[in-house]
Amino acid sequence: MDTVSTVFAQEVHEGLSQHPKRLSSKYFYDEKGDQLFQAIMAMPSYYLTQCEFEIFTQQRDKIYEAIKSDEPIRLVEFGAGDGYKTKVLLRYFVEQEMEFTYHPVDISEHILAELKGKLAQEIPGLAVEPLNMDYFQALDYLNHVGEGKNVVMFLGSNIGNFVGSDATKFLSQMAASCQPGDQLLMGVDLKKDPHLILEAYNDKNGITAQFNLNLLNRMNTELGANFDVTKFKHYESYNPENGEARSYIISMADQDVHITETGKTYHFDYAEYIHVEISKKYDLPELEQLAEKAGYTVQQHFTDCKSYFVDTLWVK
Ligand code: AVI
Repeated sequence: MDTVSTVFAQEVHEGLSQHPKRLSSKYFYDEKGDQLFQAIMAMPSYYLTQCEFEIFTQQRDKIYEAIKSDEPIRLVEFGAGDGYKTKVLLRYFVEQEMEFTYHPVDISEHILAELKGKLAQEIPGLAVEPLNMDYFQALDYLNHVGEGKNVVMFLGSNIGNFVGSDATKFLSQMAASCQPGDQLLMGVDLKKDPHLILEAYNDKNGITAQFNLNLLNRMNTELGANFDVTKFKHYESYNPENGEARSYIISMADQDVHITETGKTYHFDYAEYIHVEISKKYDLPELEQLAEKAGYTVQQHFTDCKSYFVDTLWVK
């Protein structure tokens, strides 16, 4: 087994031995998971993508004014994906002749190679230097780069997937890796009508259910597990008090599952759950507090016309 599968097996063993059981949403993203997430982002009910796209399309000039600088800029995007939204800004910055290099960061070499190829065709004149690393290696990279200003982009409400105090910890580490004057542009989903949030994570076509349950398929393929996926269901909840959308995989039977790579059998009672994801929604005062705790100052908020989503710009 390679190191990645060993870590996966260990984390699965720990997560399924706990009570309540839990698994990390970072394991959603194998090839099939990436495809399903693309399908989610294209669903009208998953409003997050279109809201952030609208912010970039309608307010790219204001974003440009807020980040432009006399020094060259390193535009570092954590978790770049397919660049659908980022391209709106990149194209505009190139048109404005801003001096910058775009550094998409992703653990998938394949995604980076594809993105680099597409950008070369679609935005000639854009300097792209991908960084094939995880978030923490990227923070280390920020720590060691030389002169110029860092503008880190962390879009798509990825911060919402950090559990509890991990969001503050991660953003504090980011601030510690940056120099005074460096900026962070972070896309964050806002609290809103709970019904809309539930619909975004519990679509009628069952794409989100497939996305979550794919984690069981992944354990079957990569860890030699024998989950019968038909005996589990996706369940979503939203708590308007703390803004947490939570995803669960619920066992529909009293059943045992064996995993070859961990050498263990795990028992599931009927209705027992595995907690697999938090997608936290914030409000603006909470974001101001988060910025302060992490060591940033809020410079500007860019919200969409419905105030469903914000791209918040912070400065260290
Ligand atoms: C990647 N992340 C920001 C998505 C979210 O909204 O929490 C993942 C997702 N899970 C279900 N739908 C989308």
